[in-house]
Amino acid sequence: MIVVLMQTQGPLFVGRAQELAWLSSRLSNIGTGNSMLMLSGPPGVGKTCLLRKALGSHPHPWAKTWEFGEAPGLWPITQLLRSLVRRTPQAFEKDRAILAALLEGGQAPPGEFALYQAVIQSIVQASWEQPVVAVIDDIHAADRSTLELLIMAESAWRGAPILLIMTRRTVDTRTSPEAQHCLARLLQLSDDCVLSGLSHSEVQALASLLASRTVDDEEVHALLRRTGGLPLFVEGLVHSTRGSRILSSRNSRGLPPSLRTVIVDRIGHLSADVRDVLRRAALLRDQIDPALLAQSLRLPSTAVENVIWQAIGEGLLSQEESGVFCDPPTLR
Ligand SMILES: Nc1ncnc2c1ncn2[C@@H]1O[C@H](COP(=O)(O)OP(=O)(O)OP(=O)(O)O)[C@@H](O)[C@H]1O
Ligand SMILES: [Mg+2]
Repeated sequence: MIVVLMQTQGPLFVGRAQELAWLSSRLSNIGTGNSMLMLSGPPGVGKTCLLRKALGSHPHPWAKTWEFGEAPGLWPITQLLRSLVRRTPQAFEKDRAILAALLEGGQAPPGEFALYQAVIQSIVQASWEQPVVAVIDDIHAADRSTLELLIMAESAWRGAPILLIMTRRTVDTRTSPEAQHCLARLLQLSDDCVLSGLSHSEVQALASLLASRTVDDEEVHALLRRTGGLPLFVEGLVHSTRGSRILSSRNSRGLPPSLRTVIVDRIGHLSADVRDVLRRAALLRDQIDPALLAQSLRLPSTAVENVIWQAIGEGLLSQEESGVFCDPPTLR
C-alpha cells in the first residue's frame, strides 16, 4: 500500500532526507570546516526548492544572478551586501567609502583588489556580530568579478561564522567563457552536493500529492521513464493529465506546452547541426545508434559522434554502460 503524505503547510516538498540532514548539520556547525557549499544539478532537479526547505522561513540574505542580460559587475555580491548592511550597519562603517560603489548603486570596476578586500573583511566583521548564512542562487550565471571575489574570500571566511550556500546548474549553464575557469576554481574550493532525480518512492509521493490520489506503480514507472525523476517535469506531466492516468510517452499525447517551452529554450541555443541530430535521434529510438543516425542524416559518422559528445555535455543525451540514450525528459 502506498502512503500519500498529507501536506498542509508551505509548498509541496518530498524526500531529499540525506541532503536536508547534510545541510542541517552544516548549518548547526557554522564556523567549522568549509565556508562555501554548492548544491549542483540539472535544471529543475530542485536545488532552489531544497535550499528554501533547509533554510525555512528565516530571512537569510539571498542573492540571485541575472542570466538574461547585462547586470552590473558584482551584482550578487551587491545584493548580499545590501541585505547585510540592513542587519548590522556598524560592521560596514569602516569601509563605507570604498563600499559605496556597490551600496549606493555605482558600477564597480572589475578586478579591484581593494574593493574585494573591503567586501570580504566587512562580511567577516558582520559575522562576528551575527552569524552569516547567505545564498547565491544560480552561481553558474555569475559574472567573473563575483567569482574572483568569492575565490579570494574562501580562505578569509574559513573559521568565521559564515556559510555561503550556492546553487549551480551542471548542464544548460550558458556560463560565459571568461567565467568558466573561475567557476571551476570556486567549485574546487566548495563542498559540493550533487542532486539527481527523485527516487521511485519520492516520485510516487510527489505525484500522489499533486494528483490528490494514489498514483500506482505503473504510472510511477511511466513518470520516471519520461522525467528521470526531475520534479519540474513530474509536476508538469501530472498537471497535464488532469486526473487521468499517467501513461508512457508511446501512449501519451506528448509533452504539455509548459514543458515543451522549457525544452525548446534549452535546445534553441544549440547549433543547427546539433538540433538536427537530436531531432532525428529522438525519432529513431531511445538508444542512439551513431551509425544509423549518420546513415539517416547522410553525414560522416565522425560528425555525428562529435555532435553526440556536445549533446552529452549539454545533458541532452546521456552515456550509460550499454550505450548513449536520449536523456529523459528532454527528447522522448
Ligand atoms: N523535493 C521536492 N518536492 C516537491 N517539489 C519539488 C521538489 N524539488 C523541486 N520541486 C519542484 O520542482 C520545480 C523545480 O524546482 P527548483 O526550481 O528548485 O529547481 P532548480 O534545480 O532550482 O532549477 P533551476 O536550475 O532551473 O533553477 C519547482 O516547482 C519545485 O517546487
Ligand atoms: Mg533554481
